[in-house]
Amino acid sequence: MAHWHRHGAREGRWSTRPSYPTRETLVCQSVHSLYLRATGTLVCWDDAGNDTVLQAFDENVHYGHDVYLGEPFQRIRRLLWEGRMPFEVCRRCAVLRSRTPHSSYHVDNRVIEIFQVEPSFRCTLDCPGCVRLDQRRLAPPRNLPFAMFEKIVRDLADARVTVRAFDFEGHGEPMLHPGLWALTRLAREIHPTTYITMATNAQAVVKDDILGAGLDSVVCGIDGVDQETYEPYRIHGDFDLAYRFVRRLTELAPRSERPIRVFWKYILFEHNSSPQHLERLRKLAREAKVDEVVLVFTRNGPRSTRLEHPDQVPVKDWEVEVSFRYHEPDVSDLSHRLEESRLALERGDATEANELAGSVISNLGRFLRDARDATAEHERLGATLAELVSELDESNQRGFQELRETLGGAWRDGRISRATPEELSSLHEGGSTPRP
Ligand SMILES: C[S@@+](CC[C@H](N)C(=O)[O-])C[C@H]1O[C@@H](n2cnc3c(N)ncnc32)[C@H](O)[C@@H]1O
Ligand code: SF4
Repeated sequence: MAHWHRHGAREGRWSTRPSYPTRETLVCQSVHSLYLRATGTLVCWDDAGNDTVLQAFDENVHYGHDVYLGEPFQRIRRLLWEGRMPFEVCRRCAVLRSRTPHSSYHVDNRVIEIFQVEPSFRCTLDCPGCVRLDQRRLAPPRNLPFAMFEKIVRDLADARVTVRAFDFEGHGEPMLHPGLWALTRLAREIHPTTYITMATNAQAVVKDDILGAGLDSVVCGIDGVDQETYEPYRIHGDFDLAYRFVRRLTELAPRSERPIRVFWKYILFEHNSSPQHLERLRKLAREAKVDEVVLVFTRNGPRSTRLEHPDQVPVKDWEVEVSFRYHEPDVSDLSHRLEESRLALERGDATEANELAGSVISNLGRFLRDARDATAEHERLGATLAELVSELDESNQRGFQELRETLGGAWRDGRISRATPEELSSLHEGGSTPRP
């Protein structure tokens, strides 16, 4: 539990910052963590990279020696250490960090911080920020085969690799995997003291068998306080079913062999974040006896424009623990990258300068949909980019131009200027489509 809190990070879940500093350079989650898709393939961590194959399933490789401690992951560590991006997609990645202490701690000590496992790629909901249901239907129904998971975890144990936490969640709904508890129990059997968590949309009926699943916590993603506020994002979802799930879980939890902590994860959108909605959330969370409410500020989907910072959320008297998470790139890190890019230009290293500035442009392009999304901090980044852009290559100049067009009036002519109300209303005619 302490691990979970200590490593919670602005981008949503986990920190990329190791505790063993040597030199400062680029670092990402793939230095010390694994993400296993339901196909059995190990991929990059971030949404942008989740189709980037690091290791396709192969019965004949050793996942400890040949994979986590071997070339597929060592190549990433080496390139980041040199200040280079291992894949084209790294430019768009939201969990890449610059100027972060980089070390061989995880390899020397054979430690994995988080092993994220996607039990199923199936889902019955159609959340606008996630894989769309019509795209899912094109793929064959996918549940992670037990044998694949077993091979990987046993190989890691054989190489004496410690897994600090298992996180059962991915781009589908874990509880649709018919053998989900066999996966979690295997993780518990092989790593008796590890932290095991699962994130669910709570569109299921909780049964007693969850008590023997070896879980330390369950994160229930319920972004609304009634059907009206829940359904705009959790399309096809049933609020009452989700709320019954959470109530039943907290009823059962005290009977579990290990204490199960129950989180209510609530993403703040425009349609579910009025003071009345938050008051109802407080009441429902207390009645359901959840252990913690996690409020998420997101830039993926129709985010809340009235609440952008924890200080704006009045949670002092909630009588239930509340924490905050962010699902967006870290602006201060993007700002560091622009400083590094400027220094690289001064030294005449155009490649590095373009790579770093390009990653800022790509990140902003991914998370800012229009001028309404740009905060003063983003505008400062825009002003710095406007100063650098004439020295960058053609593709970055084009990228910056496209970003300016997307943002309407913001960053016009390199000056910090907000879009006019007329520009905004024309931008929003027809509504904006959230992107995955
Ligand atoms: C893709 S879901 C899969 C797990 C499960 N089906 C669920 O919905 O909780 C993984 C996580 O992404 C989070 N998520 C979904 N849409 C999001 C958004 N627009 N912004 C931030 N997080 C989001 C969910 O809250 C969940 O914790
Ligand atoms: S419930 Fe979870 S997996 Fe399903 S569409 Fe929504 S966010 Fe994605």
